Amino acid sequence: MVRMVRVWLWSLTLAGVFTAMKVHAKGRNPRAITSEALSFCSSLKGNKNKRCSASPEKGLSAREGVELALEQCRKQFTDMRWNCSGVTVADIFQTQRILLAGSRESSFLEAIAAAGVAYQVTKGCSQGNWEECGCDSRMSGRGHKSGEMSWEWGGCSEDFRAGYDYSAKFMDPVKTEKSISGFVTRHNNEAGRKMIKDKMDKTCKCHGVSGSCTIRVCWRTMPKMAQVAVELRKKYDHALKVKMNKNKSKLLKMLRGRRGKKRNTNNRRPSVSSLVFLSESPEFCNPDERYGILGTHGRTCNKTSEGTDSCREMCCGRGYNGVRKVEDVKCNCSFIWCCHVKCDLCKKDWVEYTCK
Ligand SMILES: *[C@@H]1O[C@H](CO)[C@@H](O)[C@H](O)[C@H]1NC(C)=O
Ligand SMILES: *[C@@H]1O[C@H](CO)[C@@H](O)[C@H](O)[C@H]1NC(C)=O
Ligand SMILES: *[C@@H]1O[C@H](CO)[C@@H](O)[C@H](O)[C@H]1NC(C)=O
Ligand SMILES: *[C@@H]1O[C@H](CO)[C@@H](O)[C@H](O)[C@H]1NC(C)=O
Repeated sequence: MVRMVRVWLWSLTLAGVFTAMKVHAKGRNPRAITSEALSFCSSLKGNKNKRCSASPEKGLSAREGVELALEQCRKQFTDMRWNCSGVTVADIFQTQRILLAGSRESSFLEAIAAAGVAYQVTKGCSQGNWEECGCDSRMSGRGHKSGEMSWEWGGCSEDFRAGYDYSAKFMDPVKTEKSISGFVTRHNNEAGRKMIKDKMDKTCKCHGVSGSCTIRVCWRTMPKMAQVAVELRKKYDHALKVKMNKNKSKLLKMLRGRRGKKRNTNNRRPSVSSLVFLSESPEFCNPDERYGILGTHGRTCNKTSEGTDSCREMCCGRGYNGVRKVEDVKCNCSFIWCCHVKCDLCKKDWVEYTCK
């Protein structure tokens, strides 16, 4: 009897594993072409228009990738004068406004947008949206890693190569584009995509009777876009100013050595994973139509902070207004058996400062 139950449980476990694998591998029907996709493609010019028209639904997925990227950009820059909130999807695809500034901010946007496109297209591949890509079939059989329980490759390993290639073809200026901004954009786009590639990991699931891990199944997964954004934000903080070499074939770091100090003239190629820019950032204090800069008038600031969100920094020396705010908030909450929570209402008051 005991034996029979055990066999029965065992086959139940296996059935579970195979169902999980099938759901991943089979995928959905390829996406139908919608008028939304067609109208998006027609808003693009040149190479992007050509790429988009060849597969409008993939183009739409590129746009979704850029939307994800901008959402993360806004999260990363909430405490900065430039908070990414004025940037539109069209700015990215049509290379306009802040992307024309050639500053650190442009470099961050290029990188995260290229990453977002690669990310979203790869997701689409895993979901079986397109004929030409799917899951990474190289991940099969058993996997081992020292200090870790071995595993069985299963489910759908995300195939980043497909999304990577698509992003490179769609988002990069064509190689014949020899202007310095062409070099810079290609470099930043590559840095963004590389961030996903470098942070690829595996996700595992245990299958077994009552929590035991008789079968461990893993599949390759991309990092979340939020993680990519955090890492690229660090690259933004250390972005390098570059110029073109003499015969216009590559980018070189600008030398920042102080006078009298011996400069290191070797190794002037910026590393592949660095963000690079051409011009110092605008101040972002006042609105500037050209770059779609909104300015910091009316931004809330923190009077006690020492950082970029301090009123001194945020308001650019224009000063700020304080408004007393009172709000009822729940407090003193306690759990009453069973089952509700009882709270008191407390008055919370504070002063909100906004830039003049
Ligand atoms: C650029 O110049 C360097 C030396 O000044 C030379 O070795 C190199 O071949 C040149 N590259 C191109 C593409 O002309
Ligand atoms: C970002 O800045 C703009 C203009 O300066 C402002 O309107 C917006 O509320 C800010 N966004 C956030 C999330 O603080
Ligand atoms: C303002 O900055 C201080 C110091 O960094 C911090 O402790 C506080 O939480 C901040 N206040 C708000 C409302 O963000
Ligand atoms: C919170 O609960 C404590 C103890 O029950 C009470 O003394 C205090 O007045 C309560 N605070 C508020 C704001 O209601």
